[in-house]
Amino acid sequence: MTNTVFILNGPNLNMLGKREPGIYGGKTLDQIGDDCRDAGKEIGIDVDFRQSNHEGVLVDWIQEAGAAAKGLIINPGAYSHTSIAIHDAIRSVSPLPVAEVHLSNIHAREEFRHHSWVTAVATGMICGFGPYGYTMALHALAARF
Ligand code: DQA
Repeated sequence: MTNTVFILNGPNLNMLGKREPGIYGGKTLDQIGDDCRDAGKEIGIDVDFRQSNHEGVLVDWIQEAGAAAKGLIINPGAYSHTSIAIHDAIRSVSPLPVAEVHLSNIHAREEFRHHSWVTAVATGMICGFGPYGYTMALHALAARF
């Protein structure tokens, strides 16, 4: 089994850098991807970093992770708060370890962000630490391999 971790990013995360920098910071998604690949290299993990604005594409990729990856990190963006399809896709790849990541602290924001359909089916959730949350999640998954 390879040491590949899929890192999936949902809608509007391709806008990082320009999008509400006061909330999400100034790093672009490409920079976060580079940071993740670097962090992965240090701990022997191949990172497959992707983004889509489409719910069904994210579902396809979660299923692909179930067959091809040792772990999954997902920032589902706004789909966290709405998507039973993503919740079900994660259940379908059990027992794949899954880390949910949010750049912002969703519990300190609007009430509609307080609930995530993903959290209950993830191994764990990290939020509020900006891009560093992805690196934390990589280390957390690696500790389980
Ligand atoms: C987010 C939080 C979500 O509420 C929001 O819809 C996003 C980004 C985060 O990383 O903080 O798109 O997932």
